[in-house]
Amino acid sequence: MQKMAKELSTRHLIGIKNITEDDIQLIFETADNFKEVINRPIKKVPSLRDITVANLFFESSTRTRVSFELAERRLSADIVNFTASSSSVSKGETLLDTVNNILAMKVDMVVMRHPAPGACVYLAKRIPANIVNAGDGTHEHPTQALLDAFSIREKLGEVAGKKVAIIGDILHSRVALSNVFCLNKLGAKVRVCGPPTLIPKYYEALGVEVSHDVRETLRWCDVANVLRIQLERQDIKYFPSLREYHQYFGVTRQMLDELDKEIVIMHPGPINRGVEITSDVADSRHSIILQQVENGVAIRMAVLYLLAAKG
Ligand code: CP
Repeated sequence: MQKMAKELSTRHLIGIKNITEDDIQLIFETADNFKEVINRPIKKVPSLRDITVANLFFESSTRTRVSFELAERRLSADIVNFTASSSSVSKGETLLDTVNNILAMKVDMVVMRHPAPGACVYLAKRIPANIVNAGDGTHEHPTQALLDAFSIREKLGEVAGKKVAIIGDILHSRVALSNVFCLNKLGAKVRVCGPPTLIPKYYEALGVEVSHDVRETLRWCDVANVLRIQLERQDIKYFPSLREYHQYFGVTRQMLDELDKEIVIMHPGPINRGVEITSDVADSRHSIILQQVENGVAIRMAVLYLLAAKG
């Protein structure tokens, strides 16, 4: 692969809030190249051959963990995988002690998912390795937002000017916040939609529209990114029942059939079929959900490659 002249403005990827539009475009251009690589019969390049990456997952994950691991393997990095339940964190060790012990074994980069918002920025200030945030509590999930925007660009040609609706549990979603930052930087028009109890008041100040009407939002948008209800983060009830949530906010085939245009359906996963989205929408020709997953590997390869170049 050709070495790119440009570089990122940062040596960590903590959130989309802290990177520039140029950074995002550079990640996309690099991911275009890596997408071509991972569709070849031989999917591996030697770009990170002397780099060791630790994947620290303190919270459950399917897509992000597997996607980062594949991205690292495709770049020929050495990998160590770590989950909270099998580690000495469960014996009372601090996060910083755990990470410093791993770094003492000559690890260069850390990919971390953690339930505490701010855990990655806390580490980035205290350790010498590059940090990539793989989701920190309700704060940010930057690689998810990058792969979402990259998938919109791939499907619709560009992101600027497109109307993107984010529908669902906005209050508990790191995906929603990172998507808003990313789409705003790329010039999309953004709307969040859901029950009033699941949309924080500060969202209007982020420069997005707010709606509580799913049918009208689907008529408005070019792309609907549907989010699940994050019950694991809800200690009180925000709506009466999942059945009522589905009745008022679930995206259904009938809603799509009522539109006089085609829209793109996205979902970051995991999907709760029959709650926020029906199977005949998730599996329809409108859906690019599995393309999002495929693009995640190319985006994560790009992020790791560009951060490694920053040292
Ligand atoms: N989209 C996403 O973060 O999925 P996982 O929780 O499975 O990683």
